[in-house]
Amino acid sequence: MEFVNCYADASRAGAYARLEFANTYYLAYRDLSAILAAHVTGTRALDFGCGTGRSTRLLRTLGFNVTGVDVSEDMLRIARGVDPSGDYRLVPGDNFAELDAGAFHLVLCAFTFDNIPAADKARIFRDLAKLLAPGGTIVTIVSSPEIYTHEWASFSTRDFPENAAAQSGDLVRIVVTDHEDRRPVEDIVCTGESYQAVYREADLKVIQVLEPLAKGDEPYAWVNETWIAPWVIYVLRRA
Ligand SMILES: C[S@@+](CC[C@H](N)C(=O)[O-])C[C@H]1O[C@@H](n2cnc3c(N)ncnc32)[C@H](O)[C@@H]1O
Repeated sequence: MEFVNCYADASRAGAYARLEFANTYYLAYRDLSAILAAHVTGTRALDFGCGTGRSTRLLRTLGFNVTGVDVSEDMLRIARGVDPSGDYRLVPGDNFAELDAGAFHLVLCAFTFDNIPAADKARIFRDLAKLLAPGGTIVTIVSSPEIYTHEWASFSTRDFPENAAAQSGDLVRIVVTDHEDRRPVEDIVCTGESYQAVYREADLKVIQVLEPLAKGDEPYAWVNETWIAPWVIYVLRRA
């Protein structure tokens, strides 16, 4: 069965555009500014899988000169509408020929690899690495396998008990409860071991791995976030 990117959908794009940085998503973005300050020199950034531009606009507020790219025109249309001065481009088939190779100090991938089939991950990382300036950094935020088998402030998986039997590379389902579109998102679950194998295949070195947990004093109704990390953040460089 061919995997279909569920974000190529105008109604889902409209719902996604209303998400900001609250609830479980807060933990994905909470440490990003500090991570970038520690690992990135230079301001030219590519936001790979920019969606409706949430991650791109955040990078812009942090002082980066950002190009956002995505395979979904429905998502990009909204990104351009919200941020008319931003640079948002369609990259059909992940063809990066129109992007400047060797120019980017940072490539951010915020949740993008959750939607990329296992067979394509290493090739795409390898192509992204070619876009990096010398010493450039890839930061990729992905869902932990545990996100698909627990309940969260922003997500529910209780209707998908079959997720528990999913192997790395299998399709899993999750509902975003922060917006009104309750159709499940279809992702590809990927274990830490599988990501490490992908990075080796793409000649990328893992500089840091973060699994952000909530402290408990945030203004959100945490469910499992104080003891199970919903996200994994990898900091990568060319080997
Ligand atoms: C969950 S959204 C995240 C959007 C944004 N980064 C954010 O943090 O709000 C994932 C995005 O990745 C995009 N995407 C999925 N596969 C892609 C691919 N192969 N190349 C580029 N973008 C892709 C989807 O279209 C979607 O817009």
